Amino acid sequence: MVSDTTRPNPTNRRFLEPLHGNPVWPPPIWLMRQAGRYLPEYRATREEAGSFLSLCYSPKMAAEVTLQPIRRYAFDAAILFADILIVPDALGQAVGFETGEGPRLDPITEEAGLKGLDPEATGEKFGLIFETVQRLRQDLPGETALIGFCGAPWTVATYMVGGQGSPDQAAARSWAYRDPSGFQKLIDLLVDVSVEYLSGQVKAGADALQIFDSWAGSLPDNEFGRWVIDPTRVMVERLKARHPGVPIIGFPRGAGGSTAEFVTATEVDGVSCDTAMPLCAMRELDELGVAVQGNLDPLLLVTGGEALDRRVDEILAAMKGRRFIFNLGHGITPPTPPENVTRMVERVRRSG
Ligand code: CP3
Repeated sequence: MVSDTTRPNPTNRRFLEPLHGNPVWPPPIWLMRQAGRYLPEYRATREEAGSFLSLCYSPKMAAEVTLQPIRRYAFDAAILFADILIVPDALGQAVGFETGEGPRLDPITEEAGLKGLDPEATGEKFGLIFETVQRLRQDLPGETALIGFCGAPWTVATYMVGGQGSPDQAAARSWAYRDPSGFQKLIDLLVDVSVEYLSGQVKAGADALQIFDSWAGSLPDNEFGRWVIDPTRVMVERLKARHPGVPIIGFPRGAGGSTAEFVTATEVDGVSCDTAMPLCAMRELDELGVAVQGNLDPLLLVTGGEALDRRVDEILAAMKGRRFIFNLGHGITPPTPPENVTRMVERVRRSG
């Protein structure tokens, strides 16, 4: 946790301060999915790329869409433009994105299916992502931090096993119940490959890392330790051994009452909180010694107006003086009017 990893921030990147144990005010701000379809300039580049994956694998265009929200809003951090499903795609489980339908994969539902996955094959596709990171570190303003990311093994596994998004992640949960040792092999493979992937992003220039466990909340508490906490703990341990000064943020979405245990057991430097996390619980997480990130409802960015202002103020008042990073509780949605983002950023930046 912070006491183990604190080091001076050798840059002027304010985003990194709370992650190194130092509260700063107004808090740094960035938004999950800050590059995306709500921006007309994103839609134009996305069309030029042809498909979502060709956008991810074009270092020039992926860097361009990463920079677009920084130009508009001067966020304190940029997040590499890619997707959590790059990992299965690079392993050989081809991922398709049908417009309006979400991701599709040929599902792997038992141990025998793991034979088709080859960690040695990831080099070429990962190399393109690392090239995007290198470009970004050159093109970003000096004060803007760059966040690298991947999906947590549990969440990535839910897509690999289900073959698509699902409301309850039943396919992965049932493999884990039916054959825990076979499912463990998939999780272990994802831990190994994801550590290499994130380490490569750091070597290419990422200042901080975020691990997205979007479906952490679908597991009962007796399974949460094995499939959410343990893989993340091992990843954090290995990444810290290689890159001691690089902070790691966990996003165990929906983890609720298990979040504090997640924080202490994994030794992440920051925890991203979803929309349902009470502000008083966010303060308690800060008291555990981590930076806290979150948790505005993305729908308020669609609504705008006074409802947006009121909630922004409540969050700021609750977190004032803490190691806090302003963000959403989940990603920006396509119907968000870009001017509502301007309104929110100005309000956060004016807060005294
Ligand atoms: O700006 C950023 O935040 C960086 C890029 C980023 C994307 N996806 C781009 C994207 C990041 C960090 C992600 C993470 C991601 N991807 C998660 C974890 C966070 C979360 O939202 O819970 C998950 C579960 C995915 C998997 C995924 N990718 C799905 C389910 C979908 C389809 C749903 C949708 O929004 O279309 C995607 C596609 C995707 N990833 C888009 C973007 C901008 C939209 C695709 C398009 O432009 O056609």
